[in-house]
Amino acid sequence: MKIIRTKAELRALTETWRRAGETIGVVPTMGALHAGHLSLVEAACSATDRVIVTLFVNPKQFNSPEDLANYPRTEESDGKKLKPYSADVLYVPDGAQMYPDGFATTISVTGVSQGLCGAARPGHFDGVATVVTKLLLQTDADQAFFGEKDYQQLQVVRRLATDLDLKTRIVGCPTIREDDGLAMSSRNLRLGKHARATAPVIREALLRTAEAICGGTPVSNALASARSHLHENGILEIDYLELRGDPDLEILDTADRPARLFVAVWLDGVRLIDNLRVQATTAQDGLLELVG
Ligand code: PAJ
Repeated sequence: MKIIRTKAELRALTETWRRAGETIGVVPTMGALHAGHLSLVEAACSATDRVIVTLFVNPKQFNSPEDLANYPRTEESDGKKLKPYSADVLYVPDGAQMYPDGFATTISVTGVSQGLCGAARPGHFDGVATVVTKLLLQTDADQAFFGEKDYQQLQVVRRLATDLDLKTRIVGCPTIREDDGLAMSSRNLRLGKHARATAPVIREALLRTAEAICGGTPVSNALASARSHLHENGILEIDYLELRGDPDLEILDTADRPARLFVAVWLDGVRLIDNLRVQATTAQDGLLELVG
């Protein structure tokens, strides 16, 4: 796997691949790779001839300078973790490559980027949309792979790719979890022992809520008891816990169409998010099916 740090070098390589008629996949990341990221790399490797993994800690999507400064930077171990896969390039642009002097453009997606993490983290999705658009163009990718763990981000990316007529197909991949159900995240490493033992209750609350909704409990009651369950189990700060339509992410108060539960909480000073699909089945039997 080759490490490339400049747009020019990357373009030269993608042009040789294009001349050979090869397809290109990209996996955008901010590094600190774990099994969740690697599942995207695996999906890319089996879908396209050439695979580029990008590593760029994007300053435009952070809400605080401390959060940006504290973000893990582990390029060397990330490179080692990628060895077993057949990715061709690790693309590691610096700030000047991505945002040269005079850079003045923002990609801003409305609708799906509002509410949920968009409400709690102002400007975050503008930063994501801007960098992802650049990465899709720089890599000339036919397919780009994103995790459902960040489901709102996935919908923002799908929207911008459609609206800007990008040729890249956006592929969503399932959330990879620890054995106890906690969604894998580089932030999990910042949890103290006690908080780490508490964290699986997030997924558990989603499962209980989905089951309650599928069993006919009104959505507002199911959400209220999930909040109590989280509080009773040591999660005191909930940013949001909501049922939203899929894929438009409109707020729902009845699960009468495909929907997802979304949650964001603070635990031990760390913000954790998760989501779960709640799938409506045919109207004939009036039943809901739990899939996630
Ligand atoms: P990052 O948090 O590094 O995540 C990179 C990709 O890995 C995203 O598509 C994310 O959804 C996926 N991912 C993270 N945890 C996962 C898990 N447990 N299971 C499956 N996929 C998982 O998301 C970003 O970086 C950035 O916002 C980025 C898109 C790179 C733009 O800067």
